[in-house]
Amino acid sequence: MNGSGRLVVVSNRVTQVTSRKVLAGGLAAGVLAALRESGGIWFGWSGGITDQSSPEPNHATNGKITYLTCDLSRRDFEEYYNGFSNRTLWPLFHYRLDLTVFDRLQYESYLRVNRHFATRLLPYLEEDDTIWVHDYHLIPFAEELRKMGVDAPLGFFLHTPFPPADLLVALPRHEKLLRALFAYDLIGFQTENDVRNFRDYIKREANGKLDGDGSCTAFGRTIQVKAFPIGIDTEDFAALTETPEAKRQRHILEKSVMERDIIIGVDRTDYSKGLPNRLKAFELLLENYPVNRGRVHLLQITPPSREHVPEYVEIQTEVEGLSGHINGRFAEFDWVPIRYIHKAYNRRILAGFFRAARVGLVTPLRDGMNLVAKEYVAAQDPDDPGVLVLSKFAGAARQMDRALIVNPYDVNQVADAIQVALEMPLDERQARWRAMMDDLRRHDIDHWRRTFIEELHNARVAGEASQRRALSA
Ligand code: G6P
Repeated sequence: MNGSGRLVVVSNRVTQVTSRKVLAGGLAAGVLAALRESGGIWFGWSGGITDQSSPEPNHATNGKITYLTCDLSRRDFEEYYNGFSNRTLWPLFHYRLDLTVFDRLQYESYLRVNRHFATRLLPYLEEDDTIWVHDYHLIPFAEELRKMGVDAPLGFFLHTPFPPADLLVALPRHEKLLRALFAYDLIGFQTENDVRNFRDYIKREANGKLDGDGSCTAFGRTIQVKAFPIGIDTEDFAALTETPEAKRQRHILEKSVMERDIIIGVDRTDYSKGLPNRLKAFELLLENYPVNRGRVHLLQITPPSREHVPEYVEIQTEVEGLSGHINGRFAEFDWVPIRYIHKAYNRRILAGFFRAARVGLVTPLRDGMNLVAKEYVAAQDPDDPGVLVLSKFAGAARQMDRALIVNPYDVNQVADAIQVALEMPLDERQARWRAMMDDLRRHDIDHWRRTFIEELHNARVAGEASQRRALSA
């Protein structure tokens, strides 16, 4: 920040936690770790639903972070969160046009909640603040703040993928949504691929001008657009494996599998995570490589997520059906291949489980980054590390190219990769792990926050200069 200025983070999901508690997804983990370092304000939804939401945010402080959170009314929860955010933008941004539902009323609610949130934050803003807005729920947030006269540096980071223009134009009123993004000074995406999709849209659909330095001019404004791949708190996560809780839980897990190899998957129950494909790949592993029967366990931890959205209920039913089918097909009286667990564990326990697992399976059909891939690697024993099998459609695959990279639609290939992982010699496992771990250390969560904020201030200066040039032309 500029000297004494505060960082104000805005996201729909706010998690007031210590590392003992459960975090809902990558955004909460990333923002919490970033804010722990810098301190600041975290503003967003409390997670509560009330019939009459109060105009005043709730206040709480934990270490260097001040939390300001608002409840949602039942209607806003349905229309803004379950509706436009999670039945329109989420599937569309994950390339799932087939699951994208558009409802004009829900869209109006989305705009209304963004306006309400902006109104509630406004009285707490100070002159030197830097405002950093996160994710697809809050695209119009900056536009609302600007209408209220806020002139602070405003940055936006999208945690999900950004889809190709051909998909985006299927969204009614897509121009309005994209125009709203130009109220920010800087837009950050997870990967260069997302940046390309965005620039392509701006060129083709908004008749915009693109410059080599990352600036985009459209809708009368020049902004900066860049990739900032999110990291994890690498050292802290690695250290979690040494905590008594992680060690205890790991010991219990290892005792329960009796020398068998563990293959682990940890994903929110979400259709973007490719769970049916993964289970089918595991079934093929048992079919094509019978040596694994009675010898490996798939530990699939799948915390509940967005359970009021019908597509999420369907995917859960499908995953339950497939796990039951595979277990029924291969289980013996003293061995069950899949341990399917539909609940969340805290980060210490997960760190212990990751360390115990010979293979980490991260095979989404589409994912902004996927921090589980990074956490699995960070949790490994340097002397005897496990192997990561990673989807080429996760943002993480761009950085973690020493993982076994797979196409999750090709279930035969995934099964083969798991087999390669199970048989990989120690020296190769160590070499692959070391390369990925070095990169995770260099590009950790602190690096992500620092580079984004620095670029935001640069973008601000560049934007002001281009505005002056436009006025004097
Ligand atoms: C993804 C999204 C986040 C979201 C998280 C959990 O990581 O990018 O914005 O917070 O999933 O989903 P939830 O709906 O529970 O916030």
